[in-house]
Amino acid sequence: MKIISVVGARPNFMKIAPFIRAIGEYNAHRPLKPIQHILVHTGQHYDDRMSKAFFEALNIPDADINLGVGSGSHAEQVGQTMITFEKVLEKEKPDWVVVVGDVNATLACSVAAKKLHTNVCHIEAGLRSRDMKMPEEINRLVTDRLSDLLLIPDSLSGENLLKEGTPQKNIVFVGNIMIDTLESNREKAKQYRLEDILRKNKLLEKSIIEGLNGRYALITLHRPSNVDELNVLKPLIDFFVDEVATDMPVIWPIHPRTQKQLQKFNLWQKVTACNNLVLLHPIGYHEMLRLNMEASIMLTDSGGLQEECTVLGTPCLTLRWNTERPITLRENGGASVLVGNNVERIRNEYLFTLKQDRVPQRPELWDGQTAKRCVKAIMEFKEDY
Ligand code: UD1
Repeated sequence: MKIISVVGARPNFMKIAPFIRAIGEYNAHRPLKPIQHILVHTGQHYDDRMSKAFFEALNIPDADINLGVGSGSHAEQVGQTMITFEKVLEKEKPDWVVVVGDVNATLACSVAAKKLHTNVCHIEAGLRSRDMKMPEEINRLVTDRLSDLLLIPDSLSGENLLKEGTPQKNIVFVGNIMIDTLESNREKAKQYRLEDILRKNKLLEKSIIEGLNGRYALITLHRPSNVDELNVLKPLIDFFVDEVATDMPVIWPIHPRTQKQLQKFNLWQKVTACNNLVLLHPIGYHEMLRLNMEASIMLTDSGGLQEECTVLGTPCLTLRWNTERPITLRENGGASVLVGNNVERIRNEYLFTLKQDRVPQRPELWDGQTAKRCVKAIMEFKEDY
């Protein structure tokens, strides 16, 4: 059995790490018939802090093949990935291509594989935001439509797939593979000191480092819908700087896209001049987990952080109007509330949310054992002829 698994961008790395480890465990029990595994990195995220740091921290072996795709428009990234990945497929002839999440690599590699009649397995299948303006939603829809084996993180995702006509026999409920990574790194993350994280990653010399006293807000922001338009980004920046940062220290590990946009819109000066806001470079997995464990509140447009906040119990304001992860919402038992990018709504929920206690939750099968179930599902898959 030969499996190629694919990563491209930062949120993929924490999903592939436990999968590769589970293959290693499977092989240790079956030395005569091991799974042959090849890891392909499309190269979409290439900065050391967005990629290499995660491989090292999560003990992911170096990619066997790097497609070197880099930045570009969506069509450029997807097109380049398909062209180069097709050559890999022709040479390696894998039995399976395993893709994770919803980034451009997920879409490009599932299309290239299916066109060469290779089986595709999608880990984190069935999530739907129903927002066709999100590139990730298009990636999810196409990938799921083409996949032979759809491994779902929760039952709501299964319902989405069934409604779209996916046969039940192709869907396996395995749980959330990100939580495998969270569980196996929780103890290590606890050892990190807040001051060390800030000192090591600060973007500006003058940043405050001491005196957080366990009360701070954590921000992440990178979605095109939030950062690509001045009339959306500016009110958000005004709220972060003029309201949140006057209430408590703010820690903000900034995504390269967002930094570029702030500079382009002349908002960089306002953010960097704020004394109670610490700008960080993109930070490592353990550092983010450590900051999240103690944050008073998270303000984010990331999908993965909504899930991590749910398990850690961190109150989370999700700066989006929809989510493909409804299981993380407060009304479904999670820690997150959708606030979009309307400042009045964000302010009201901010004030309300700060009064809430931390209530960690564990949705069904978010138990740290998902990767093993993924490998088992692939090995037990029966094709119909
Ligand atoms: C991608 C994913 C998104 C995911 C996010 C996490 C898609 C469609 N989007 O969005 O789902 O939540 O990653 O980070 O795949 N850049 C760098 N260095 C890098 C990588 C990117 O400077 O290592 C710059 C690029 O030049 C570009 C911008 O950041 O200007 C955006 O990068 P891109 O890979 O296009 O998409 P993300 O916004 O990161």
